[in-house]
Order: sequence, then structure tokens, then C-alpha cells
Amino acid sequence: MELMEGLLTRRSVRKYQDKPIARETIEEIIRAAQFAPTAHNRQPWEFLVIDDREFLADLRHIQRWTSFAKDAACVVIVCGDIEKSFNRNKEDEKWSFIDVDCAIATENLLLAAWARGIGTCYCGAAPMQRVVDALKERLHLPDNIRPFAIVPMGYPAETPKQPEERYHPEKIHWGKW
Ligand SMILES: Cc1cc2nc3c(=O)[nH]c(=O)nc-3n(C[C@H](O)[C@H](O)[C@H](O)COP(=O)(O)O)c2cc1C
Repeated sequence: MELMEGLLTRRSVRKYQDKPIARETIEEIIRAAQFAPTAHNRQPWEFLVIDDREFLADLRHIQRWTSFAKDAACVVIVCGDIEKSFNRNKEDEKWSFIDVDCAIATENLLLAAWARGIGTCYCGAAPMQRVVDALKERLHLPDNIRPFAIVPMGYPAETPKQPEERYHPEKIHWGKW
């Protein structure tokens, strides 16, 4: 699939066929995610792939807008390593690019999956603290690992409608506001 076509046609898919995704295909998709840009090229991510049916069905108790994940082939939990991310943690200056890095990787993941005919839906975890805490506890994540996004994926059992035009030229400010 041509890159621009993929960018314009990817839609959130929330209905999936009862069909597994080959491990090599998941690896190929995650490889594409790992080619995303990151602050200071820290690549502070980890990817947790889960196809356990009980966990997929339980996810809605952790993040309430993920009920459709029960029918996904798997979910990928995109995580950030807070020790690896480019950050400052001083008295007078505190910031971290961890969520930005993970967000870009997540978008790569969605697009790479789409390029292989696989439907996904970005489901938020961070910065919802209760969801972050619940995922950490349920998945026994180490202290330095921050679950950022939950991405159910599977071969589509629906063709989501393409949206009305999303391009708004008035949102571009040429040279001055
Ligand atoms: C940060 C973020 C969090 C989201 N969380 C959820 C979610 O919890 N459940 C869900 O069904 N969709 C979720 N979405 C998907 C959006 O609803 C979807 O991207 C949006 O409606 C636009 O539709 P499209 O992806 O088909 O273009 C999320 C998207 C983003 C970017």
C-alpha cells in the first residue's frame, strides 16, 4: 500500500474476524513502529503482545472503552521506559518526552498494520492514571515501564465509513496567525 493512501484510508476498526495474525506479521508491524522518530533517538519503548482471551475480555474493566477488544486477535500494549526516555527531572525543570515518543510509535503501528490489511484501534492508557496503574498491576510491569496505549488488532470484520473531508485549509496559518 502506498504511504499516502495508507495515511488517508486508515480508520479505527472495532470488529474483527476470528482469525489469528501470524507472529511474523506482528513482528513486521512492530518493527515499523520501532522506526518512528524519538527525542534524542532514545527509542524508549517496549511492546507487550497479548492474545490471552481472558485478558482481552477483562480489558474493559481496566479501560472502559475497550469492550470490543474481546474479539481482537491480540492487543499490543505500547509501553515506555521512563529510565530510557529523554527527560529532565531537576528541581526547576521537569519534563519527559516519553508519551510523545510512544504516541508516534503507536501511529506507526496502526499504519503498518493497515498496510498489511489488519484493523486496529488506538485505545488510550496514559495519561489516565487509573488505567496506567491497573495495567501495571494486572501485567506485573516493572516500575520503570509506563503502559501508554492499548491497541487491539485483527483482520477486519467491518469496513468503517471513511469520514467527511477532514482537511480544513483555514487551520493552516501561512506566515502569521
Ligand atoms: C489518544 C486516543 C485515545 C483513544 N481511545 C479510544 C478508546 O479508548 N476506545 C475507542 O474505541 N477508540 C479510541 N480512540 C480512537 C478514536 O475514537 C478514533 O481515532 C477517532 O474517532 C477517529 O476515527 P478514525 O481512527 O477512524 O480516524 C482513541 C484515539 C486516540 C488518538
